[in-house]
Amino acid sequence: MSYDAVILGLGYVGLPLAQQALRAGLSVLGYDVNPAVVTALGEGRSHVDDLSDADVAEMVASGFRTTVDETLIATADVAVICVPTPLSEGDGPDLRAVTGAAEAIGRNLRPGMLVVLESTTYPGTTDDVVRPLLERLSGLVAGRDFHLAFSPERIDPGNETFGPRNTPKVVGGYTGACTERVAAFYGRFVDTVVRTRGTREAETAKLLENTYRHVNIALVNEMARFCHELGIDLWDVIHAASTKPFGFQAFYPGPGVGGHCIPIDPNYLSHNVRSKLGYPFRFVELAQEINATMPAYVARRAQNLLNADGQAVHGARVLLLGVTYKPNIADQRESPATPLARQLIALGAKVTFHDPYVQQWSVPRTDDLEGAAAAADLVILVQHHREYDADHLAGIAKRFFDTRGVTHGDQAHRL
Ligand SMILES: NC(=O)c1ccc[n+]([C@@H]2O[C@H](COP(=O)([O-])OP(=O)(O)OC[C@H]3O[C@@H](n4cnc5c(N)ncnc54)[C@H](O)[C@@H]3O)[C@@H](O)[C@H]2O)c1
Repeated sequence: MSYDAVILGLGYVGLPLAQQALRAGLSVLGYDVNPAVVTALGEGRSHVDDLSDADVAEMVASGFRTTVDETLIATADVAVICVPTPLSEGDGPDLRAVTGAAEAIGRNLRPGMLVVLESTTYPGTTDDVVRPLLERLSGLVAGRDFHLAFSPERIDPGNETFGPRNTPKVVGGYTGACTERVAAFYGRFVDTVVRTRGTREAETAKLLENTYRHVNIALVNEMARFCHELGIDLWDVIHAASTKPFGFQAFYPGPGVGGHCIPIDPNYLSHNVRSKLGYPFRFVELAQEINATMPAYVARRAQNLLNADGQAVHGARVLLLGVTYKPNIADQRESPATPLARQLIALGAKVTFHDPYVQQWSVPRTDDLEGAAAAADLVILVQHHREYDADHLAGIAKRFFDTRGVTHGDQAHRL
């Protein structure tokens, strides 16, 4: 059996990509080093938010096969690497999964294949880390015997408007021919393909997209602090500014940044600049500092709210609403709710949580939303899931701290 493509790493990025390619009629093999993931998918079970068991069953019915056998990589024309790149101790990306996947491909690379890296990483990874591994293990030469490219994924978990098909796909090849080959590949199942000059530009485009969000979120997070002291309603300010039809994009403050991308990816660039050039990427480092201290700032505001009524935070019953990193999904990666709960517990508060998407978490859970909201000394809205009628909850709570700016009127305190 031969395949149009093999996807290496069947997680939040790899699985939706496989689904999209299958839906466009490509034959797709899934390769993962985790046997549990391979078995579950083979049996039609999904472990990724955006895909249901029915979606995976549909993929299997249209020929999707999963394997831990790396020799099957040789049966595909295109190999796409979608493995994790967590932050390493030194703040750069931990590339062990990427080098592991590249080695597996290198040992099974045939002339004429295309290899694409999608994992988020610093500029130069494709040309200087992946290519030498592929060439050394296969004896083939990139750009001559096989094609090599980078294409950042733009997954936005929970986004109902933009998905793999209608989100423009950036591609950058090791050579011009590599760029044309990868553009032709994604052109089979993505509406718009955007070519860059080379792999470094494509790698850096991804980091710019996330650093842009990171820095602008830090801007309004810092403003939230001094606006509160100056008695300025920042939510009203942002609403007014966002009516400008050009030159302004609204970003909103909050209890901190979460998820896999925004708090992590900018580090890859600042680490690269510092290690390669010896000086700091100051914007990123400042934004890191501001965004990373938002949970502590929210805990301090909570303490002040209780103190204003003569109540100590020590022993106070504090209810957290929404502990995921984004609304309406179950993904908790890097959620700011975790350091916030830790800060409140350190102050002696009795912390509980409610979240329609999370059954178990680091503090006790309550199912009785209304009862718990009325009984708590302080309710903090950390994530605005669609299930929450924030104004109603603010009405029944003794004290309600809205860190997302979704309440109206003066029943709630806003960040
Ligand atoms: N999830 C997102 O929303 C998101 C957003 C932006 C960027 N990314 C980037 O996409 C990449 C993938 O992230 P993800 O969220 O899909 O990760 P994930 O943890 O959901 O899935 C990764 C999968 O890769 C497998 N894997 C690990 N090492 C492997 C190897 N050597 N060979 C084959 N499979 C291997 C793991 O078993 C796992 O199943 C990362 O670089 C991440 O930065 C993800």
